[in-house]
Amino acid sequence: LANGLALTPPMGWNDWNAFGCAVSAQLVEQTADKLVASGLAADGYGYVNIDDCWMAPNRDSAGNLVPDPAKFPDGIKAVADYVHAKGLKLGIYETAGTNTCAGFPGSLGHETQDANTFAAWGVDYLKYDNCNNQGVPSQQRYNAMGKALAATGRPIVYSLCSWGTEDVASWGGSVGNLWRTTGDISADFGSMLSNFHTNVALAADAGPGAWNDPDMLEVGNGMSAVEDQTEFTLWAEMAAPLISGTDLRTASANTLRILGNRQVIAVDQDALGRQGTEISSSGGLDVLAKPLSDGSVSVVLFNENATAATISTTAAAAGLPTGSKGGYALQDLWTGRTTVSGGTISAAVPGHAAVMYKVTPAKRTLPPSTSLLTTLPS
Ligand code: DGJ
Repeated sequence: LANGLALTPPMGWNDWNAFGCAVSAQLVEQTADKLVASGLAADGYGYVNIDDCWMAPNRDSAGNLVPDPAKFPDGIKAVADYVHAKGLKLGIYETAGTNTCAGFPGSLGHETQDANTFAAWGVDYLKYDNCNNQGVPSQQRYNAMGKALAATGRPIVYSLCSWGTEDVASWGGSVGNLWRTTGDISADFGSMLSNFHTNVALAADAGPGAWNDPDMLEVGNGMSAVEDQTEFTLWAEMAAPLISGTDLRTASANTLRILGNRQVIAVDQDALGRQGTEISSSGGLDVLAKPLSDGSVSVVLFNENATAATISTTAAAAGLPTGSKGGYALQDLWTGRTTVSGGTISAAVPGHAAVMYKVTPAKRTLPPSTSLLTTLPS
């Protein structure tokens, strides 16, 4: 959506995956504290997002949404103020239906009033769900809220939680900044893999301000350490939103290490905004390539299978310029090690793991006595 927002994929946190309906002001504020203290805020995780179940069961007599007084005793504005004072932004949740998935009042038919409420509270991001939609076409429902948000004049990132229905990837970019391409993820390799497969095929629909969303990160929520790292690698390669769905207050060192890998984050956040594509896939061994703004390419070698395998491709297949005289520098973004290759890109990849190389054509260094002119190709 050309609203000037989310020019790179949104980064932040959302309570749903780890807490379900147990959201509260305290949880949101403690998470904001942890985002700053852990360094994740400085790494780019800027949105602290409230999901379903933040509301009281009914609107007030004027038809306004009401925060649950037990969960948000001082209201949403107070939480927004707290989060903003930390240099972060606040996200909220509603539904393009008569009720949210958990049964709270929905925004269908109340778009303008609710958008104005969110803007008045200082909300910076809306995740807009798809339950209880009365069969009204989703473009109509999502457009109505999009118009209402724009009319508030407040910059609000607009996240369509449309589960990949009604071909949303083909029109999502004209309505919102990101759109869900799948059903709900769970902290399970098979679920993550399924969302990956659906989402990776939709690369042509993504770009700055408009992102495919394969759902929130499950890093730290129960997959193996290898699988957690794989999810983060694949999501970054797909220029997916990086929305942590774990309890950051108690996150392990390994979870914080994965979420905080700045080299991998830089691939996700690259200014070119290209979603990586699958350049080969055979027997559960996948190769992905994502062109980056500095002329390098991020290459992922992903082993879907449970047993180790060698996965190989070439610089040419990854779209790099051929004939690089000095070969290519392969920087492994998880180990930090750089190797040089004449063109083969290959690794022994453990089961369920993904190797991520930033591949750069090696620069020819000029001997100090040589003039630039004499070294140019004729
Ligand atoms: C369905 C969405 O896909 C989830 O991400 C979550 O927001 C729940 N609804 C909340 O009810």
